[in-house]
Amino acid sequence: MEFDRTIIITGGAGFIGSHVVRLFVNKYPEYKIINLDKLTYAGNLANLKDVEGKPNYQFVKADICYYETVKEIISTNNVTGIIHLAAESHVDRSIVDPFTFARTNVMGTLSLLQAAREFWEPQGWAGCRFYHISTDEVYGALELTKPEGDPGAKECGGGPFGDDFFTESTKYQPHSPYSAAKASSDHFVRAYHDTYGMPTLVTNCSNNYGPFQFPEKLIPLFINNIRHRRPLPVYGKGENVRDWLYVVDHARAIDLIFHEGKIGETYNIGGFNEWKNIDLIKVLIKTTDRLLGRPEGSDDDLITFVTDRKGHDMRYAIDSTKLKEELGWEPSLQFEEGIEKTVKWYLENQDWLDNVTSGDYMKYYEQMYK
Ligand code: NAD
Ligand code: TYD
Repeated sequence: MEFDRTIIITGGAGFIGSHVVRLFVNKYPEYKIINLDKLTYAGNLANLKDVEGKPNYQFVKADICYYETVKEIISTNNVTGIIHLAAESHVDRSIVDPFTFARTNVMGTLSLLQAAREFWEPQGWAGCRFYHISTDEVYGALELTKPEGDPGAKECGGGPFGDDFFTESTKYQPHSPYSAAKASSDHFVRAYHDTYGMPTLVTNCSNNYGPFQFPEKLIPLFINNIRHRRPLPVYGKGENVRDWLYVVDHARAIDLIFHEGKIGETYNIGGFNEWKNIDLIKVLIKTTDRLLGRPEGSDDDLITFVTDRKGHDMRYAIDSTKLKEELGWEPSLQFEEGIEKTVKWYLENQDWLDNVTSGDYMKYYEQMYK
């Protein structure tokens, strides 16, 4: 079958990657989509069962750090676009094992850049794009200047927990090994643009939530724990603030930016949706209990305050005005609707949860929380 172009999506078997692969495979039958993924503990082909048989989809099991392999895949398939999501992504793991994060996030990104460059540069970069998916965590942390929260603040132009936001010009100041490795990879992508003229794009997105997220991250972990009436380990006092975006809205933004973003630019992605952890956790308990038919308040006592994460960033809040003004992107889902859909999905997909949490993951989990 002839395709207009071939695109590699790295990390397509992970949480966000699987949503991006699904969107591209279904929306662009004229593109061949190669999902290049190593299938670490976080990658799961069960995330993509619905696209498996599609003629424009191909899965290739490979490690982005193996530069020769990646180069071979790019050249034999005449790849003209790379959307790079493969990474080690969990902050707590990065604190325990920083080397793996440097290897995959830094060296892996560099290996992909170099492999793409060697194939694209001799062709004058014609029609090529290297799109690197990054995080708001590279900007460091904001202060909690309104600890009680001010719901009216958004209308006045500030955030509910502080008036400042991360913008595209905020200085990089990563704190965790995860964000340091992501920051480094962002710098390499920009260096390839500035040095070799590679057509690159970088986006920095806030915390994502939704179906298929590995249950070591807050939202799926806690929904699963509430269901099984296990303790909910809240770090510190639960006062840290995160800015949450429904994963499908992130995938929509990636599609738009890949096609219409200005080469060499950075865009922040976020929905102006800040939540203090403890308030979000209460919403999760309430929603999960209601959907399970349990009386309200029956699982509040699962909240267990535990030792804080080392170097725990206090507040993330992203300003995505540039993306809205230049490309017209806005999130499609309100948070209440997104959380309802998400809790429902995890409750209806216990098999998926059991499948991904079997084996090595449980050993890790038990060690983390013993
Ligand atoms: P994830 O951990 O769910 O998935 C990562 C995927 O990468 C997995 O499928 C894994 O198998 C694959 N992978 C890991 N190492 C690899 C390697 N060496 N070679 C090939 N594949 C490898 O991550 P996610 O939450 O979907 O995040 C995807 C990207 O988005 C990451 O780059 C992350 O930094 C970024 N991001 C995530 C969030 C979030 O809230 N989850 C927010 C902003 C940005
Ligand atoms: P997480 O989902 O790990 O995302 P990130 O650290 O990248 O923001 O965590 C979200 C927030 O929830 C963060 O402030 C840490 C906190 N948290 C807990 O309190 N307990 C937990 O068990 C986890 C996993 C996270």
